[in-house]
Amino acid sequence: MSGYGLLSTRGLSLSFGGVVAADAIDFDLQPGERLAVVGQNGAGKTTFINICTGYLKPTSGTVLFDAVDITGHTPRAITRRGVGRSFQLPQVFTEHTVRECLMLAASSVKQKHGFFLPLTQAVDAHEVDATLELLQLSARAHDLAGSLPEGQRKLLDVAMALVLRPKLMIMDEPTSGVSTDEKHGLMAVLMRALDERQVTSIFVEHDIDIVRRYATRLCAWIAGRIAADGAPEEVLRDPIVVKNVIGE
Ligand SMILES: Nc1ncnc2c1ncn2[C@@H]1O[C@H](COP(=O)(O)OP(=O)(O)OP(=O)(O)O)[C@@H](O)[C@H]1O
Ligand SMILES: [Mg+2]
Repeated sequence: MSGYGLLSTRGLSLSFGGVVAADAIDFDLQPGERLAVVGQNGAGKTTFINICTGYLKPTSGTVLFDAVDITGHTPRAITRRGVGRSFQLPQVFTEHTVRECLMLAASSVKQKHGFFLPLTQAVDAHEVDATLELLQLSARAHDLAGSLPEGQRKLLDVAMALVLRPKLMIMDEPTSGVSTDEKHGLMAVLMRALDERQVTSIFVEHDIDIVRRYATRLCAWIAGRIAADGAPEEVLRDPIVVKNVIGE
């Protein structure tokens, strides 16, 4: 036994000038977990995701995926290892159709040089269509990604990662920008898709109802640190979390 989870960090730190955005974070995620991350604006949630997925380099500390040290690897190398991610603001190709977005995403990891070059590599069209179906986007396949309402744009952003068959999916605020009414439907589609593909997941979420309903574990971030970690109901009752994260 290595003692590491599917995703682990040890002493992960990063400062921006005087701001400590990640403060010696030790973290382990086990396969099958559905981890929600809460924390006020600026607590360091996105910074943590960016370090784990190669978009930022830590000042010190390590990131391990499947017990392999991936600290400082490029986003693409980390994607190739099986870590998918989606963004606070969906990163889709607005001038391309929904299906083309998935084709481009599927081809990108096969390219050795450059990013999103023409589709010179064969893409598994069946996999693309199955993923569109899974995220309930088939009816929009030939519409421009830029024409989608925010909820479907969020689904497309996740679909572009899921088409690569990740083991772990990290989603930064998958329901932000979506009306309260639509959030539950969106999460239901996402969680069913992740279950079906047996993908472990982390999602950042501000809506406590969504956290209660979909998370098996909850981490509360305060000032670059994990201030509470455990079963969602326990963490949500923690006085530090009530005072600093939930409010009131
Ligand atoms: N590239 C950067 N340059 C300078 N400061 C940064 C950078 N990225 C993040 N920060 C700072 O680091 C801290 C953590 O930011 P981060 O975006 O990780 O917070 P967050 O928890 O994701 O917040 P939100 O809920 O608003 O998305 C903030 O003080 C932020 O201003
Ligand atoms: Mg953020």
